[in-house]
Amino acid sequence: MAKESIWTCKNCGHTHYKWVGKCDNCNTFQSVIKEQRNSLPKNLSGGDGGKRLSLVSLSGNISTPESIKTEINEFDRVCGGGLISGSAILVGGDPGIGKSTLLIQICGALSNKKKCIYISGEEAIDQIRLRAKRLELENTKVKLAAETNVRDITKTLDEVDSSNVVVIDSIQTMYNDSINSPPGTVTQVRACAQELIRIAKKNGFIIFLIGHVTKDGTIAGPRVLEHIVDTVLYFEGDRGHQFRILRVVKNRFGATDEIGVFEMSERGLHEVSNPSAIFLADRRGKISGNCVFAGIEGSRPLLMEIQALVSPCSSGQPRRNVVGLDANRLSMITAVLESRCGIELSRQDIFLNVAGGLKITEPAADAAVATALISALHNKPAPSGAVMFSEIGLSGEMRSVPQIEQRIKEAKKLGFNEAWVPKQNKPGKTETANYFGLSIKTMGHIQDLVKEFD
Ligand code: TYD
Ligand code: MG
Repeated sequence: MAKESIWTCKNCGHTHYKWVGKCDNCNTFQSVIKEQRNSLPKNLSGGDGGKRLSLVSLSGNISTPESIKTEINEFDRVCGGGLISGSAILVGGDPGIGKSTLLIQICGALSNKKKCIYISGEEAIDQIRLRAKRLELENTKVKLAAETNVRDITKTLDEVDSSNVVVIDSIQTMYNDSINSPPGTVTQVRACAQELIRIAKKNGFIIFLIGHVTKDGTIAGPRVLEHIVDTVLYFEGDRGHQFRILRVVKNRFGATDEIGVFEMSERGLHEVSNPSAIFLADRRGKISGNCVFAGIEGSRPLLMEIQALVSPCSSGQPRRNVVGLDANRLSMITAVLESRCGIELSRQDIFLNVAGGLKITEPAADAAVATALISALHNKPAPSGAVMFSEIGLSGEMRSVPQIEQRIKEAKKLGFNEAWVPKQNKPGKTETANYFGLSIKTMGHIQDLVKEFD
């Protein structure tokens, strides 16, 4: 009679007729496990199991999902025009940045169109009510619950249909009692999120999951969930500043890189519809080390002030303190200034800051950073009515940047009269073409910029 069991290597799949400590085929130790000989059907592709798929062509009728506007314009734009029904949205951010405030305001704004359910695992009902009162939302039709047990939550949500919006605050406080690990661990966070999203997809309601970003890594951050949700939003900002930026990093239904700007006030978050004006509001003219960069954030131009301070190094190792910009980008710009223009910065402490707590990721900010540095070093203000944008290459060449029209129009709107642009982006034929009412100064090489401060 044939033997009932066989021994299979977990690593290479080689079968043995008895247990061995080392696989004969791949030489791996302790990889051989016992299996039932008949655990797999003889014919894997046949049998009654599957059903035949009906294949379709690429073209055909498309049902466009409904998009619901919250009428909080900054939020709607970040979400690609509105919330798509049945979608799962993760809102991540540092503790205390304003996620709960934002979501309760969204619930308040949506409560006329949708039934909103806010489930908090962090705050008691009284606390949420107090916050709603502060935000003047106490009379909206939002339903509340304070609960952390996912079994009870899913039982409740089982009867909830697609006319609802559900907020879970926060996913790290939720726990599934059939899993033997504490709330906040990767296993719990993943399992709870999967269970909640499954029920949301089944019943077709919109679900928001709030997730804390933690730097010390003691609880699982929202990153472990990014792949199972449709949209990932991050709420950022400096707690010392009143500005908050809502950034989209993943969106199955719209563009990413879009930002929404809010201001945290005594009565909650307010939209900032003209962020350039707000970020430049505290600007003082004629100060050395400051330069205005005309950037693009998502689909929108944004003017930002870059500030630099350069002082002789007091210790052996010069300091490079950068807030709001990539420190590697600063190293590259200082290296180019040293080797291509002979400007000595290696014995200077450099402090660089983007005013208003913003973060710049565009390489187009290079020229503005270089200008701020040179201006600080020579203690000579940059022209106060000018904006800049250009990428700097390693040989010191100024490289072209996209969307110059939008940048220049925004600068014009805010009262600037000059733009320093890379030569390749030169709009007209003459060197100082008048473009949208701004005089244009072109730069071919970083030395053109340095000469302005001689
Ligand atoms: P919160 O939404 O609780 O943050 P998170 O959910 O991200 O942890 O916001 C907390 C901070 O916001 C808190 O420091 C108080 C402040 N805040 C205001 O300044 N104004 C307000 O109207 C509200 C509701 C909160
Ligand atoms: Mg909160």
